[in-house]
Amino acid sequence: MGSSAKIALLPGDGVGPEVMVEARRTLDAVGEWFGHSFTTVELLIGGAAIDAHGVALRTEDAAGAGTADAALLGAVGGPKWDNPASDVRPEQGLLALRKALGLYANLRPVAVLPSLADASPIKPEIVRGVDILVVRELTGGLYFGRPTRQWRERRGRAAVDTLLYREHEIARVARLAFEFARGRRRKVASVDKANVLSTSRLWRSVVGEVSRDYPDVELEHVLVDAMAMHLVRGPGRFDVVVTENMFGDILTDEASTLAGSIGLLPSASVGAPRTDGSARRFGLYEPIHGSAPDIAGQGRANPVGMILSVALMLRTSLGLEDEARAVEAAVEDAIEAGVRTADIAESSPARSTSEVGKTVAERIGTRT
Ligand code: IPM
Ligand code: MG
Repeated sequence: MGSSAKIALLPGDGVGPEVMVEARRTLDAVGEWFGHSFTTVELLIGGAAIDAHGVALRTEDAAGAGTADAALLGAVGGPKWDNPASDVRPEQGLLALRKALGLYANLRPVAVLPSLADASPIKPEIVRGVDILVVRELTGGLYFGRPTRQWRERRGRAAVDTLLYREHEIARVARLAFEFARGRRRKVASVDKANVLSTSRLWRSVVGEVSRDYPDVELEHVLVDAMAMHLVRGPGRFDVVVTENMFGDILTDEASTLAGSIGLLPSASVGAPRTDGSARRFGLYEPIHGSAPDIAGQGRANPVGMILSVALMLRTSLGLEDEARAVEAAVEDAIEAGVRTADIAESSPARSTSEVGKTVAERIGTRT
């Protein structure tokens, strides 16, 4: 028997709405093929919310997203709202949503499809077979530390941001990383800058302490600058990578080049399991690419990162593993058949966002 679920959709700005159309198409195809009913509610976030309501996310919309079983987000931001002097910025909506819903861990799988090993700017022999899960801490660190402000002094302007981590914030995300490693190749690389930062020295101690509960998982500590190098020189040895908010933001953009394009990668942001006894874990699912204002509205955006985010949602929040695999298989088949947007099109002519989305939707359930 099919199940039902309520999904909040937050298309946002730039290419967000375009890729969200394809997420919907994917959901419809999955619902039809597997007999599930997905109901959706659309909410405003980012610049779209600023234009409509003067804030990047209304409190009631954050709460509304939280009452759904899961939420899908496109992207936020764009030149229209880039004025640095402005108090309201699109990105505040995303940060507020993560914080309001307690989504402290951001899961960013970086896997290289065999058919795309040549699409990466890194040599194919280096990227082939790469399969990394980055677990990025998402509600702490520089993104949320106070004070954060700018001021004027006699000699010029000054500004401060605060990098703060508490033990419990490190422990819970580390624990999650070790749990995931158990379902994978049982290796965790914890990334920090312990040779310079106090927060990193605390990070390293706490991760080490948590690791004692996981003697079956191998732990290594890697400095972030070295990690930036390892990711392009020898990424194959990494399994689960766990790191703080800002390092994770930077390293996952870098890691996306291994997969061939940032447009391919999905992410899941999760918090503590629900306390209502349900097995479902709320999550916010989004591609890791941004709003890409330079190509917005042109049908050129790669919808795969968004579509694979739907797959992650089916698996992680709705417990629908077969359905998640069917979406992933449909994406692989479409890419293998050469149905690709410009960012990964090799010799074949580039297809539009909707052509790729439609091809994926048609192929759902066809692989036997
Ligand atoms: C990401 C994005 C966001 C972040 C921005 C849009 C606030 O870059 O999800 O990686 O820095 O977390
Ligand atoms: Mg980022």
